Amino acid sequence: MILQIFSLPFLAGIASAINLKVSSTGGNASSPLMYGLMFEDINHSGDGGIYAELINNRAFQGSRAFPSTLEPWVPVGNAVFALQNTSIPLSSALPTSINVAPGPLSSHAKIGLLNPGWWGIDVKPQKYTGSFWALGSYKGDFTVKLQSNLTDDVFASVEIPSSCQPGKWVEHKFELEPNLAASNINNTFVIEFEPGSGAVNFNLISLFPPTYKNRPNGNRPELMEALKALNPSFIRMPGGNNMSNETIGPLTQRPGRPGTWGYGNTDGLGLVEYLNWCTDLEVEPLLAVWAGMYLGSDADHILSAEALAPWVDDTLNELEFILGPVSTPYGALRASLGYPEPWALKYVEIGNEDNLYTNGSSTYAAYRFSMFYDAITAAYPNLKIISSTGDYTAVGGSGETATWTDFHTYSRPDTLVSMFDKFDHASREYKTLIGEYAIVQENLDGQLAGVNWDLPKFPQPVWIGAVSEAIWSIGAERNSDAVVGMSYAPGFQNLNSYNWSPDLISFTADVSQTVLSTSWHVINLFSNSRYTSTVPITSDSPLGPAYWVAGTSGEGKYTFKIAIYNATSSVPFNITFEGVAKGASGRLTVLSAPEGLSANMLDGEGVPTEVVAKREVELVAGSAGEFGFELENWEVAVFTT
Ligand SMILES: *[C@@H]1O[C@H](CO)[C@@H](O)[C@H](O)[C@H]1NC(C)=O
Ligand SMILES: *[C@@H]1O[C@H](CO)[C@@H](O)[C@H](O)[C@H]1NC(C)=O
Ligand SMILES: *[C@@H]1O[C@H](CO)[C@@H](O)[C@H](O)[C@H]1NC(C)=O
Ligand SMILES: *[C@@H]1O[C@H](CO)[C@@H](O)[C@H](O)[C@H]1NC(C)=O
Ligand SMILES: *[C@@H]1O[C@H](CO)[C@@H](O)[C@H](O)[C@H]1NC(C)=O
Ligand SMILES: *[C@@H]1O[C@H](CO)[C@@H](O)[C@H](O)[C@H]1NC(C)=O
Ligand SMILES: *[C@@H]1O[C@H](CO)[C@@H](O)[C@H](O)[C@H]1NC(C)=O
Ligand SMILES: *[C@@H]1O[C@H](CO)[C@@H](O)[C@H](O)[C@H]1NC(C)=O
Ligand SMILES: *[C@@H]1O[C@H](CO)[C@@H](O)[C@H](O)[C@H]1NC(C)=O
Ligand SMILES: *[C@@H]1O[C@H](CO)[C@@H](O)[C@H](O)[C@H]1NC(C)=O
Repeated sequence: MILQIFSLPFLAGIASAINLKVSSTGGNASSPLMYGLMFEDINHSGDGGIYAELINNRAFQGSRAFPSTLEPWVPVGNAVFALQNTSIPLSSALPTSINVAPGPLSSHAKIGLLNPGWWGIDVKPQKYTGSFWALGSYKGDFTVKLQSNLTDDVFASVEIPSSCQPGKWVEHKFELEPNLAASNINNTFVIEFEPGSGAVNFNLISLFPPTYKNRPNGNRPELMEALKALNPSFIRMPGGNNMSNETIGPLTQRPGRPGTWGYGNTDGLGLVEYLNWCTDLEVEPLLAVWAGMYLGSDADHILSAEALAPWVDDTLNELEFILGPVSTPYGALRASLGYPEPWALKYVEIGNEDNLYTNGSSTYAAYRFSMFYDAITAAYPNLKIISSTGDYTAVGGSGETATWTDFHTYSRPDTLVSMFDKFDHASREYKTLIGEYAIVQENLDGQLAGVNWDLPKFPQPVWIGAVSEAIWSIGAERNSDAVVGMSYAPGFQNLNSYNWSPDLISFTADVSQTVLSTSWHVINLFSNSRYTSTVPITSDSPLGPAYWVAGTSGEGKYTFKIAIYNATSSVPFNITFEGVAKGASGRLTVLSAPEGLSANMLDGEGVPTEVVAKREVELVAGSAGEFGFELENWEVAVFTT
């Protein structure tokens, strides 16, 4: 951080300052939801991602699309593996287990099973909490270990006397607490036992490091802290894919489900976990429910009204589970899981991107939206309902009860900047949530082109993208009477397996390797610089290449946000704020990417490289109460006084 003191002489000799006068009143209330998060369980953002479970394929869950597998388990010693549906299942949800049997070579050496985690296991001197279920007649000790995959190092080991009983699944709980940190993540989790009394079946083998706010079955702390640092107001979840009632309850009761991104989900991160995640981050949950259109398939996957009816019932059950009194069946189910109090859900989105595909919008407007809207508002009149088409194809209510709509845009920098004034012209009756936005492709020679989904996206976040997103955010803030909030997407990128780039936060199993994107830095700056109301600005210069918005929180407090996009020289500002006099102090915080418009990612050695630089400057108002400062091209700044 560089602190410098400047006063007006800084501007001496600069002829072409942009002169701005900021009023103290006359604007619009700011939306308290203005910055939020969007979460989608895109390739290993949930399982293997924020969900802190370290064991990969812990319960051999399968579906027709993704059958049960032994991957990535590895036999230890003379062990032989088989997947089995035992005559006594652990539960109807988890019928398949791993049978670990002594191999044909007779030996007294221990046998067992080894799991490499989700592309490694981070081993630190901290308490790991684990459990597994076993079926067999074994009477000796189980040995449970965290060990290196590269050396003979064993970081933690514990003996657990077997509680096995023939014909019955028995849970075994343990803790592992290494004394030392492993030097890398190339570690494995191992369970061993004596081969003498034959095979043992194992299921639901789980190991958790400490989680965010010590939430049982919770999330990775450092990834949650990266979210919390964005000062978010809401989480839009679960990104439009349906979350059935089978994602609640004990983990033994969750069958998992075929995910949308090419693998099965454990559903360990289920509905309750999402809601607790919101509680722990102190944000509003915004629940998207499935509205009868399968993404990624053709329009013939739109359900008829008749076929959709059970899904409306399912949604009502889900809402009763979240909001209903304990006297209702699903409210009682919630209470039985340890949550007698309802969660504070206020926002429900009907579907996700239901304007996609040939008949998406027409069926949404004809019956899909209204089936859900009518049923939900009849039961829960206070819920704010959001349509998913980003337009006014399907609306409900009016005034305070009017529906909102969720607009998504994936774009190129020049194109997004050209959309700066989109919401100047938007409806004020049906407000907009910008539930997904991101720059994903490069400019096309000054053409204002949309994204070509057949071409590659940016492999990494880039600064020019973040600057254009800053301008898009400024456009939204200026229209905060029409735009209720915005959330960048996607949130997370597991660097070992991802479908999509760029993303907000990139990570591996190594908690020290998290990379915060260029976009993250802009959101961090803007979302932590909130105000309660916009205020009008008079200017002697048009918007572009500098874009700005001003707001106040009353009591003479002002916030002024600026981004410079493709200027031919540096841009001097000369600003007054109504009621702010000579000698007042202010602070300018400037983000830039000193290496130009470069990208932000792990370098070749796997070391995080964040290209965004931050500088802070203290300013003092001149004789007319004016503040003078200059911004360089491609800078994003917030000035507060
Ligand atoms: C407040 O909202 C009105 C109506 O939408 C709009 O014309 C005006 O520009 C807004 N004021 C500010 C300061 O954004
Ligand atoms: C277990 O049962 C499921 C469901 O019937 C079946 O699809 C799967 O193939 C079975 N697995 C084994 C290992 O028998
Ligand atoms: C352990 O090492 C083997 C090869 O030596 C490798 O195939 C496996 O992926 C490694 N496990 C982890 C966690 O990297
Ligand atoms: C662990 O080491 C093995 C052998 O060098 C390598 O193949 C594997 O990629 C490493 N895994 C991780 C997670 O670093
Ligand atoms: C979940 O919903 C389905 C379909 O609505 C229903 O058949 C099932 O009983 C429900 N399960 C629970 C645990 O409520
Ligand atoms: C929603 O969940 C149900 C039940 O798990 C599943 O059959 C359906 O395919 C899911 N729909 C989508 C869009 O994921
Ligand atoms: C869209 O709906 C029309 C009218 O029902 C139907 O003829 C057409 O096949 C549908 N298009 C697609 C792509 O499903
Ligand atoms: C997404 O995950 C699945 C299952 O792990 C994998 O097969 C697929 O290749 C992944 N996609 C990408 C782009 O890595
Ligand atoms: C900047 O503007 C010039 C024209 O003034 C244009 O040629 C160039 O493509 C623009 N660059 C970017 C990154 O938009
Ligand atoms: C800056 O603004 C003040 C107040 O409006 C004005 O008096 C002064 O002339 C301006 N300075 C420059 C360099 O434009």
